[in-house]
Amino acid sequence: MEVFEIEGGSRLEGRLRVNGSKNAALPLMAAALLTDRPVTLRDVPNLADIRNMVRLLSELGCDVDADLETDLDDGNRSVTIQATDESHSHARYDVVRTMRASVCVLGPLLARRGSARVSMPGGCAIGDRPVDLHLRGLEALGARVHLDSGDICVSVPSFESGGRLRGATIFLGGSFGSTVLGTANVLSAATLAQGTTVIESAACEPEIVDLAKLLNSMGAKISGAGSPRLVIEGVESLGGADHVVIPDRIEAATLMGAAAITNGSLTLENCPVDAMLAVTEHLRQVGVDVSVGPHEQDLLRATCRVSSGRRLSPVVATTQPHPGFPTDAQAQLMALVSLADGNSVITEKIFPERFLHVPELARMGARLQRQGATVVVSGVRELTGAPVMASDLRASAGLVLAGMAAKGTTTVNRVYHLDRGYEQLEQRLERVGARIRRVRAEETVAA
Ligand code: EPU
Repeated sequence: MEVFEIEGGSRLEGRLRVNGSKNAALPLMAAALLTDRPVTLRDVPNLADIRNMVRLLSELGCDVDADLETDLDDGNRSVTIQATDESHSHARYDVVRTMRASVCVLGPLLARRGSARVSMPGGCAIGDRPVDLHLRGLEALGARVHLDSGDICVSVPSFESGGRLRGATIFLGGSFGSTVLGTANVLSAATLAQGTTVIESAACEPEIVDLAKLLNSMGAKISGAGSPRLVIEGVESLGGADHVVIPDRIEAATLMGAAAITNGSLTLENCPVDAMLAVTEHLRQVGVDVSVGPHEQDLLRATCRVSSGRRLSPVVATTQPHPGFPTDAQAQLMALVSLADGNSVITEKIFPERFLHVPELARMGARLQRQGATVVVSGVRELTGAPVMASDLRASAGLVLAGMAAKGTTTVNRVYHLDRGYEQLEQRLERVGARIRRVRAEETVAA
């Protein structure tokens, strides 16, 4: 078992490049199933989830040329995917179990191959993860949907004799707002449907905008990306494309949090500030200075400087679908304001159970009171190092931030969760002054 050992108290200073986004790359990779032409994606991070997606696409008959080992900082990584054998449509439990995002092959397989069988993703550490909206959307496009032995089976009626999905008007909102991967699935499927599809209450996340951009460069006709109403005019077929993945806004938010919690100063290159306004606004309320040069042309790939002084102010933050404050940065914000001068209130409106970091931060001396989906954080003067357990990707990121600010040594167990979303995080933080190392060790807290 690998753990991070962190000696707290060092101030971070230096430059880091933000990598391409994992959550954008996964549905982009799945979109390559919509064509038999090659699709090349650039700046793809070398992460466990990406490697799982490579494996899944290979099982689904794709030739995948993944060049992920090149230097982290040059952004030249690429993955080229070509669906050469379109006879397989089964995403097995073995793969889906390790990565929930496998579900985003459902829409592309259905639209291009006429059917798909995808193991039903289970819940995960951050709560129930239903797919009812994905299925409702695909059904509205005319797909037949049923469950068989734990698999979701979808098919286009009469596909063999020329049947296609049919454009439709679909409301895709649920009790927690829009769905990101659900929108990706229905959007991807609708590109090859007959007629026009309107998706209302579509996810507005930048990852969906990036997907629409790729699909349009493959020949799709999508308008409205980034708004809650997507209009898709179906086309007969799609071609190949060459596309640069957007930078990862959650990695950027995590690095901003790292600068802030260590009273440090980091310059982030390739930073998607335009997709992070809720994050930067909350950080400013905490007293963190986030500045972008006046001559930046591309605010999705900007250079931005983040620094903070000694005093942090409390905030009130509620996670919401984009453009609201992202759930994926909630744990990091909580770690930060656990050292603020006063009481903060953090409410989770996307995954109401996503508080696995709360008891772990409490072990480090944070004063946290949870009531349902809200946590009141009473700022303390200092955190103290402790053995803590990483339990999901973003909770782990919050614990790493806390460890860098704490007095003494923090051991973060089970860093494989962190490795799913952050590439070489410890090496990059070390380069800008953190004292953090990865070691093989027995777990140091009870499982
Ligand atoms: N929901 C439903 N029915 C559905 C789908 C979702 O009720 O059919 C609910 C969910 O339970 C949740 C809310 O809708 O309460 C939003 O879930 P969403 O479908 O948007 O989540 P997702 O698409 O499965 C992606 C990211 C998550 C991120 C969420 C929310 C990927 C691979 N995953 O998940 O990222 O938290 O959107 O922004 O893109 C992470 O990176 O750590 C991570 C968990």
